[in-house]
Amino acid sequence: MRKKVIAGNWKMNKVLADAESFVEATKNNVPSADKVESVVCAPFPYLHALVKKTAGTDLAVAAQNMHYEESGAFTGEVSPVMLKDLGVSYVVLGHSERREYFAETDETVNQKAHAAFNHGITPIVCVGETLEQRESNQTMDLIADQVKKALTGLSEDQVKQTIIAYEPIWAIGTGKTATSEQANEVCTHIRKVVAEAVSSDAAEAVRIQYGGSVKPANVDELLAQSDIDGALVGGASLEADSFLKLVEAGT
Ligand code: G3P
Repeated sequence: MRKKVIAGNWKMNKVLADAESFVEATKNNVPSADKVESVVCAPFPYLHALVKKTAGTDLAVAAQNMHYEESGAFTGEVSPVMLKDLGVSYVVLGHSERREYFAETDETVNQKAHAAFNHGITPIVCVGETLEQRESNQTMDLIADQVKKALTGLSEDQVKQTIIAYEPIWAIGTGKTATSEQANEVCTHIRKVVAEAVSSDAAEAVRIQYGGSVKPANVDELLAQSDIDGALVGGASLEADSFLKLVEAGT
């Protein structure tokens, strides 16, 4: 039985005081981490404060991106060494917004996944298709390609620990959720791709989240699907009450 992981991706939202009050309101109210992993993906400037505030609680902190190099002349970048030093436990890689606006590629996502594991950080690797790709029946091939490229060269054990987030781009921030059947169909496909590319044990263990207009009203149905092991949530994760409902649904 795979443990569910619910991650709130704040994207580029909140000022420090809002981030801190969100964490104060949630850190002692999330379910036990034995039952569900509750994660907030915060902007870089808040990570230090939030990791300190959540120490000893069941609320974990993730970064929304990182560079794959450990240090050096990479102005404006943040390294896995820095994230590990702060105590960050997860990192979101290859979000479609980073692929679209910041030239993230399958290759850099793969380099970052290796770097995350080299520093003991769990990667949440995002994949997803545009509406145009879905309408021209490219979804399954595109997702298979993204998944295989992201996982290239990882050990079986690392793949088992990876979290893959399936986020159809047409469902992000649009209020258009994929139906639970549509979401599960692609998540089942991802598991099959992992079985073929790595092993059936890895496919059985890897956790696959759905993301795209998830909210308290639809989370139960999505999480009830056979191959959906969690959610990566944007808009509905910004308010503490709503986030607490989402993580509760994962228990
Ligand atoms: O990473 C989460 C995401 O892109 C979905 O955003 O606002 O549709 O839940 P939203």
